[in-house]
Amino acid sequence: MADRVSQVVGHLNYPKGLLAGQTAIITGAGQGIGAETARRFANEGAKVVVADIDAEKCNQVAESIRQSGHQALSVPGDVLDPAYIKSLIAQAASFGNGKIHILVASAGYTYDGVIHKMSDKQWETMIAIHCTAPFKMIREAAPYFRVKDGEPRCIVTVSSTSGIHGNAGQINYALAKSGLVGFTKTIAKEWGPAFGVRANTVAFGYIQTRLTAAKEDGGFVIGPDGEKIAIGVPGRGKPGATHSDIPLGRPGTATEAASAILAVASPLFSYVTGQTIMVTGGRNM
Ligand SMILES: NC(=O)c1ccc[n+]([C@@H]2O[C@H](COP(=O)([O-])OP(=O)(O)OC[C@H]3O[C@@H](n4cnc5c(N)ncnc54)[C@H](O)[C@@H]3O)[C@@H](O)[C@H]2O)c1
Repeated sequence: MADRVSQVVGHLNYPKGLLAGQTAIITGAGQGIGAETARRFANEGAKVVVADIDAEKCNQVAESIRQSGHQALSVPGDVLDPAYIKSLIAQAASFGNGKIHILVASAGYTYDGVIHKMSDKQWETMIAIHCTAPFKMIREAAPYFRVKDGEPRCIVTVSSTSGIHGNAGQINYALAKSGLVGFTKTIAKEWGPAFGVRANTVAFGYIQTRLTAAKEDGGFVIGPDGEKIAIGVPGRGKPGATHSDIPLGRPGTATEAASAILAVASPLFSYVTGQTIMVTGGRNM
């Protein structure tokens, strides 16, 4: 369905694609929602900067986009490293011939624990990856967004139903994802009036990616000290599992999640800013 909408709308009104002529940075683009977003943006004519801590996956995504005839630059690195953020913005600006139009901050993960057992490290890591890293990136990119050249500028942060409604076992993640709501509205209020920058957050429910696979699968990410942090949901995918809490009756795919980010970043949303867009299959209405 999303592909169909993109084809019809894009081809009628935007023959070169919804994002033609724009340069976009997508963090966490080595896999999952970020990788699909990079692919969809590239299909819509954007030059995409693929950023991820997993260098191999980062390079693979950029290479597959180039193989399909579109433009992509791989800039692997850790968004928790301030030197990387400087380099990412500089390389993106150079790739975009001095311009950056879109920034999607998707890099992130969970570091779950119940309140009474949560360590300071679990707490601080979630704020660092979901809030401080996007803040430093957007601050570094400010010269490319605070411009008046008549071209669109858009920031998309990635929140979660855990941030909007809370979730047992995720007080750190819930705080960080909730923080993005006010964070994103503030960008909309500061950079909207003079520069026309739009800023929205997309809050996902259950999207099928490595992050939401069964914890028993052994998925992990590399944390700030180089330690392995286990991710996933205990018992996910048990036979007979239903999705009675989701009105659409199923989880979303990474492509559906990416399509929502594309919609928000596209000219079809040119009068939408400061919003939290729930992409949940209707869960938690
Ligand atoms: N999948 C869901 O159901 C869901 C729901 C709500 C919100 N989210 C959010 O969506 C975003 C993407 O999640 P996903 O489901 O695609 O997960 P994913 O694990 O498939 O992809 C996340 C990517 O981020 C990268 N990453 C992690 N730490 C990084 C770092 N320090 N620097 C750079 N890159 C780093 C990983 O290498 C990985 O490629 C996250 O912010 C997540 O919290 C996901």
